[in-house]
Amino acid sequence: MVPTAYPATRPRRLRSAAFSRELSRETRLAAGQLIQPLFIAEGPLCGPVASMPGQARLDLDQLVAECRALAALGVSAVAMFPVIPAELKNDTGSESLNPDGLIPRAIKRVKDACPELGVIVDIALDPYTSHGHDGILDEAGYVANDITVEALRKQAVVLARAGADVLAPSDMMDGRVGQIRAVLERDNRHNTMILSYAAKYASGFYGPFRDAVGSATALKGDKRTYQMDPANTDEALREVGMDIAEGADIVMVKPGMPYLDIIRRVKDEFRVPVAAYQVSGEYAMLKAAAQNGWLDEKKVVMESLLCFRRAGADMILSYFSKQAAAWLKDA
Ligand code: PBG
Repeated sequence: MVPTAYPATRPRRLRSAAFSRELSRETRLAAGQLIQPLFIAEGPLCGPVASMPGQARLDLDQLVAECRALAALGVSAVAMFPVIPAELKNDTGSESLNPDGLIPRAIKRVKDACPELGVIVDIALDPYTSHGHDGILDEAGYVANDITVEALRKQAVVLARAGADVLAPSDMMDGRVGQIRAVLERDNRHNTMILSYAAKYASGFYGPFRDAVGSATALKGDKRTYQMDPANTDEALREVGMDIAEGADIVMVKPGMPYLDIIRRVKDEFRVPVAAYQVSGEYAMLKAAAQNGWLDEKKVVMESLLCFRRAGADMILSYFSKQAAAWLKDA
């Protein structure tokens, strides 16, 4: 029997061939939009990260080799995180101000070997404090905002002078972006960029990262007095607005996949470059499921990265960046 009415619009028509799917695709992912986070260590602290299969704490020679490979794959930048021996940690995280410390030396090695690769470094004290918090504690054990910001400004100058292209304050203290911007201007570093962890949530998904940098065993309590409540979204806009006004060039939302709604709101509201961070716990989940044969790794990784782009992220920090860039090259 021939039906009398046909649908004029058949959305499946454009899906019926590879060429028309390609032509009508709204969002794309390119290697140049990816940033690879890397853990840096020395001596016995080097080696694989148990909760992040495929990721390792690299020594400086391995770091240089890895950066060469990332640059060859078209990845735009690396974000480096230090693993500091316990004997160099203290209450104030003073090793973070050492101009000959691990991260300043790592920056120089990478910029010498791969000048075109962007170098991003965290501004925060947690890898350096004996208590694992991102700041300096007062007598009551509260992370004291303004004293911490003083330390962060000094850390910012040390790392900018070492040659970092981008400073990424990840501490969530109030007013730190403005203070860092001011100190950079005073030091004549007008083009040092600030990628602010603007909307960073107090998340359980950072667990494997804290294992990797060794701040997990040290951490007393949690970070809820400075990182944001996962229940909040208007507050993210307030934080982002402040950081832009204070001089941030790029604003980040973190974690990634459970927070795509925040990325979309930030992009719609501010129209500035937005970064998403697919954090350590997200990596661990996808990797574990893939290793068990429960998920197809390539499919879910590429889907997750594309969905960050669809949600409004211009760039993505992901531990899968190198692998994804290699897959994009093969495709
Ligand atoms: C610390 C920092 C954290 C991450 C980046 N910088 C952890 C935290 O806030 O405890 C998390 C990254 C990840 O989980 O992949 N300032």
